[in-house]
Amino acid sequence: MKILSVVGTRPNFMKIAPLVNEFKKHNVDHVLVHTGQHYDKEMYKLFFDDLKIPKPDFDLGVGSGTREQQIKSIKAKLTPILKKEEPDAVMVVGDVNSTLAAAQTASNLGIKVAHVEAGLRSFDNTMPEELNRIETDKISDFLFTTEKSGDINLEKEGISKDNIFFVGNVMIDTLLDHKEKAEQSKILKKLILEKKDYCTLTLHRPSNVDNKVDFENILSILVEIQEKIRVVFPVHPRARKNMHSFNLDGKIKNMKNLIITEPLGYLDFLCLMSNSKFVLTDSGGIQEETTVLGIPCITLRKNTERPVTVEQGTNLLVSIDNGKVVSKAMEVIGNKIKLKNKIPELWDGMAAERIVKILLNN
Ligand code: UD1
Repeated sequence: MKILSVVGTRPNFMKIAPLVNEFKKHNVDHVLVHTGQHYDKEMYKLFFDDLKIPKPDFDLGVGSGTREQQIKSIKAKLTPILKKEEPDAVMVVGDVNSTLAAAQTASNLGIKVAHVEAGLRSFDNTMPEELNRIETDKISDFLFTTEKSGDINLEKEGISKDNIFFVGNVMIDTLLDHKEKAEQSKILKKLILEKKDYCTLTLHRPSNVDNKVDFENILSILVEIQEKIRVVFPVHPRARKNMHSFNLDGKIKNMKNLIITEPLGYLDFLCLMSNSKFVLTDSGGIQEETTVLGIPCITLRKNTERPVTVEQGTNLLVSIDNGKVVSKAMEVIGNKIKLKNKIPELWDGMAAERIVKILLNN
C-alpha cells in the first residue's frame, strides 16, 4: 500500500505525527508532502523537530495568500507529484486550506481520499474551516471521525455509513505520547511562572483578530483578567500582524500582567497549557487538548465544531461577550466551577493504529 499524506499548517503536524509512525510500523510506503502554508521556524520547523516527523519528501512552498490563491497554487504544484507517485490514497487531516486543496487535487485525478477528522461542523459558513470541512468530506472515500457528532453530521449530508469510521482522535494520540516529555520543558522557568498561577491565551481566528472592534474588545477583556492572574500569550502571526496594523501594541504594552511570547514549539506549549490555571482560546484543537488534560478552557467563540468537549469535557463555550468572559474567568479563578471532565470515547491514544488497520483492510 502506498499512501501520500499532505500537511500544511501547525495543527496538521500533530495530527500526522502518529500516523507517520504507524505507517512505518506496518511497512506502508509513505510519502509526506508539506504545502508550505505555514513556513516560519516557530510555526513549522519546531513542530517537526519536537514530534520527530521526518523531513517532507516534497515542500511545495506555497506560502501565504488568500484562500483561493493558496488552493490554486497547491493544486498546480501537487498534481505532477501525484501523477508521478501514483499513491493508492491521499491522506489529509483537519480543515485548513491545504486540506481541501490536496483532497480536490487527488479527487480530480481519481485517487482515493482519506480524511482524518471528518464530519465536524460548526454550522457557521463564515468560517473558511467550515467550508473546507464540508467540501473535503463531500469528495472523501474514507471519513475518519473523532466524535459521534461527526458521524451524525455526515449521515445527514447523505454520506454512506460504509465510508464513515469512528476511530478517535489522532491529536490526542500525540498529546498522550508527549505529555511526560513535555513536563521536562523549561518554559515555566524561562517565563518565571508558577504552576496554576497563570492563564494561557491563544488567539488567531479571523473573526476575532481580523476586525479591529472585536480584537479591541478581546483586549479589554484581558485588561480585567490580567488584574487577577498573569496571562501568557504566545502570539500567532495573524494576530501579531493585525495588532500592528490596528495600532493596538500600546494597549498590549500597558497590561503589566500580560506576558507576550513568540509562538511556542509543541513541547513547550503543552507544558505551558498543562500547568495553567485555565486556558482562553479560539482554537479548535486546544478545546480537545484541554478536555483530555482536565484544564478549564474558556472558548472565545460563539460556536464549536467539537461539541463533545462541551458535553463531556472541560470546554466552556462563552463567545466574546465582554461581561460573560470576565465573569466566567472570575468563577474559574475562584474555583467556583464544577467541571465535567470526562474523556470522550476512543480518545485513548490509539486512533492512528485504528486508521491504518482500516486502510490496510480495504
Ligand atoms: C490557518 C488555518 C486555521 C488554523 C491555523 C493554525 C486556514 C483557512 N486556516 O490559519 O484553520 O487554525 O492555520 O495556525 O487554512 N504567517 C506567517 N508565518 C507562517 C504562517 C503564516 O507569518 O509561518 C502569516 C501569513 O502571512 C498570514 C497569516 O500568518 O498573513 C495567516 O496565515 P494563513 O495561512 O492565512 O493561516 P492561519 O491564519 O494561520
